[in-house]
Order: sequence, then C-alpha cells, then structure tokens
Amino acid sequence: MLQARVSLHPSSVVAPVSRRTFGSFVEHMGRCVYTGIYEPGHPLADEDGFRTDVLALARELGVTVVRYPGGNFVSGYRWEDGVGPREDRPRRRDLAWHSIETNEVGIDEFATWAAKADVEIMYAVNLGTRGVQEALDVHEYVNHPEGTHLSEQRRANGAEKPHGIKMWCLGNELDGPWQTGHKTPEEYGLLAAATARALRSAEQDLELVACGSSNSAMPLFGAWESTVLEHAYEVVDYVSLHAYYQEFDGDLGSFLASAVDMDYFVNSIVATADAVGAKLKSKKKINLSFDEWNVWYQSRFNDAPVPESWDVAPRVIEDQYNVADAVVVGNLLISLLRHSDRVTAACQAQLVNVIAPIMTEPGGPAWRQTIFFPFARTAALAKGDVLQTRVQTPTYATKRFGEADVVDAVATHDAATGDVVLFVVNRDQGQPAELTVDLSAFGGGLSVAGSWLMTDDDVYAGNTRDDPERVGLRELTGATITDGIATVTLPRVSWSAIRFSRS
Ligand code: AHR
Repeated sequence: MLQARVSLHPSSVVAPVSRRTFGSFVEHMGRCVYTGIYEPGHPLADEDGFRTDVLALARELGVTVVRYPGGNFVSGYRWEDGVGPREDRPRRRDLAWHSIETNEVGIDEFATWAAKADVEIMYAVNLGTRGVQEALDVHEYVNHPEGTHLSEQRRANGAEKPHGIKMWCLGNELDGPWQTGHKTPEEYGLLAAATARALRSAEQDLELVACGSSNSAMPLFGAWESTVLEHAYEVVDYVSLHAYYQEFDGDLGSFLASAVDMDYFVNSIVATADAVGAKLKSKKKINLSFDEWNVWYQSRFNDAPVPESWDVAPRVIEDQYNVADAVVVGNLLISLLRHSDRVTAACQAQLVNVIAPIMTEPGGPAWRQTIFFPFARTAALAKGDVLQTRVQTPTYATKRFGEADVVDAVATHDAATGDVVLFVVNRDQGQPAELTVDLSAFGGGLSVAGSWLMTDDDVYAGNTRDDPERVGLRELTGATITDGIATVTLPRVSWSAIRFSRS
C-alpha cells in the first residue's frame, strides 16, 4: 500500500476560510436560467416562477455568492432589456451561444432568486459592446437608493430597496477572440480602469474585478494581466482567473492531477500581480477571483457544429459527470482553499444544467451530479482557518502536468469549535494510500467525528435522470486516532473529508 504523511499545527495558518470560495455562476446560457432556476409552469415553481427543488438544492450545495448574468453572454447584453414589465421586454439574439434571450429574467428577478437562495450576487457588466456609461447606468439602477431616474425606475418596477451588490466584474474574458468586443490588453486595461474609476465615484467601497486571462494556455497569459494591472492596479481589488479541466484521450492520470495546473495558475498570477505592484511602488495587494472553474469536456463542445436554428434555452454543454470528475472537483477545491491568502472568491461554473452540479428536466425532476457532493461537503465543513498542509507523499509522472503528488490535501481548523477537517484525494489509479495525520499539536481529545468518501469501482459511473442516486458519498470506514496520530486508508481514485472533533 502507498504511504503518505501530513503534520498539522494550529498556528501554521494560511488565512481564514473565505466564504466566497464557495461561489457559483448563473449565466443566461442554455438552460441555466430558463428551465434551470426559472420555470414558471413547473409543478414545483413558486409564486415568482422559480423552481423550489432547484432552490433547495442550491442551498444544500452551500453556495455563497453567484456570478451573474455571464460569461460570454454578458459581452452583448443590454441590462435594461431585462427590467420593467415583462410584456415589453424585447427578444434578442444572443451571439455568444447562438440562441434567443427572452429577457423574462433580469436583474430584479435574479435578486429575488438570490435572496431566496441566500446568496450574494457578483454582477458582471458588459465591457464587450458597451462601456463606462452603461456600467454606471446599471449600477445606478441596481445600487442607488432613490431619487434618480434609474433608481426610481427600479422602485417603480417593484424593487424599492437597492440590491446592494458589492462585487462587480469589469467584463468577461476580453482576451478571448471568441468574445464579442474582444480587446487588446492595452484597450481593455484602459477601459477597465476608466470604468472602475467611474463606478468608485458612484460608490467608493465596491469590490471590482478586472478580467485576467481566460485560461493559462492563452497566448498572452501573464502579459495580459501585467498590462491590464499596470493601468488598473490602484482602482481594482481583484484579477479574475478562469480554468476548465477534462480528461483527454483516456489520460486519467493527468486529469486527476488537474489541481497541479490550478496551483501553477494561481501562483503565476499572484507573482504577476505582485510584480506590477512592486513596479508601481504600491502597498496594495490584488486578490484573485477564480470566478469560473470546473470540469468541462470542452473538446466535445468545440467539435460540435454551430446550430442552424435560434432557440430559447437550448441544451448546451450539459455535461454528465462521473466519479473521476467529482474527485477532480474536490481536488480543485483543495487547491482553492490552500491559496486562501490570495484567492478570496471563486465561482464554480455553472450552477444548473450548464456544466453543473444540479440538473433538471423541464417539467420533471432535479438531481445531483457527482460533482455536487465534494462541493457541498467542503462548503459545509471548511470553517475557521486554512492550515499549511504539506503532504509527504509518493509522486507519479503525468503527461500534461509533470510529476504530481499521489496524495493531495488541505486542512481547516475552527478555533471556535476545535474541529479540524482534512480534505484529501488519492490520485493513484491502482492502489489505496495509507495516510498518517499528526494532530498531536492540537492537544488530546480529538476523535473522528465524521468522514465522507467519493469513490466507486467504476470511476466513470454517474447520476442520470433515470438513476439519480447511483453515485453519492459514503462513509470512509476504518479511520482511527491514537495519541493524536490518525490513520486513514484512502481508496484509489478517491476524494474524502474527515472531521476530527473534541467529544
Ligand atoms: O461557463 C461557460 C463559458 O466559459 C462562459 O460563458 C465563458 O466566460 C467561459 O469561456
């Protein structure tokens, strides 16, 4: 059996767990909004047309903040189409996803949904086809209390109180040639800085996110962030990161090591942002908003022909996830948590139907995909501080990401309850790994209070409409603790969470 070891100490703290790490994303794309969160004719729809089964699952998932309304969609979106009487709202082409946007749901409806789901909104403005004025307009409509043209329009539309959105994304993926209104780093940096300055004149303490690279393989990766931040450093708070992972050509070993790339991505952008800060002689630090991440079988989407018809809420990238995908998602959360000193917001893309933990059928049921489980457990268990977690582990060679650790983990410690929680993956495809966890620095009295395991003999098993509970979490049996030293056996290709408590 493989052997690994980790030693934890309550004073070796990375940073507090940021609740915003457990964000998600609702884009007007495919069936995320229409027949996802919103389906007025559905038997479980509430008085506002929102599916209560989806709301319950979003709460169970533990989502804290939701990015809205896009994504690529936002780069051609006119926010004002989605407010006011529904019968007056225009139907528009959405060029990003070759579909028809009915505008039945706009910011006021989404704010109603967000209040029911108990989530914060992270709002993205259109800097693709639009600019400073439209960003100011949507801000005035959404956040200005009263007494101006647009705030009074909001009140007349039924939202008497401002929506109070704090976190604003300055456009989406504008480094990508696929983006409507794609820009050079120079053009985008100037526009982001000008928009940020204007928004801050309207409301000083907004938290503003400049677009970083769409992924770490982009031709301008690093250079894009550097140029953008040279223009916008003092007026923004975050730079964004986006990354999607998939298994290519049966190379499960590389896929299971996807978090190695996420670590590299985060470390590179921290270094780039800090280098710009040093150049500008700034005392300020820019944080990272990893506001799109997930497993996405993007190669299948890239190979698909552009549809001939223009449809409302077509089925787009409705990936069905398996056990290996869930192990990777759990591992990506481990990576995000270990970078909690700089990654203080993150959004899994997306929430419902579109590469999502929650699936629905129009008029039918909603169910949990495999990736739902590690997300929900991590969101529920990660409390207090993230601890420095260095695992002594065997490594293995991967085609895509070089030498990778077999066992990867992160731990949190909640000083209020004394709980220590370990989140851990075994990436080995053939063997279990015995992990020894030295908890002696926490004093005596800790015992295993709970354990959750994602694994299966068939790593490609998943949940479907007809078999919605094929895969779930089970107990990780056999975990022991003696004199502060815990021992757990991690099955091959598995994700686990183990909670140690004082009884
Ligand atoms: O989440 C799907 C798409 O991926 C988003 O619209 C875009 O921002 C990214 O490329």
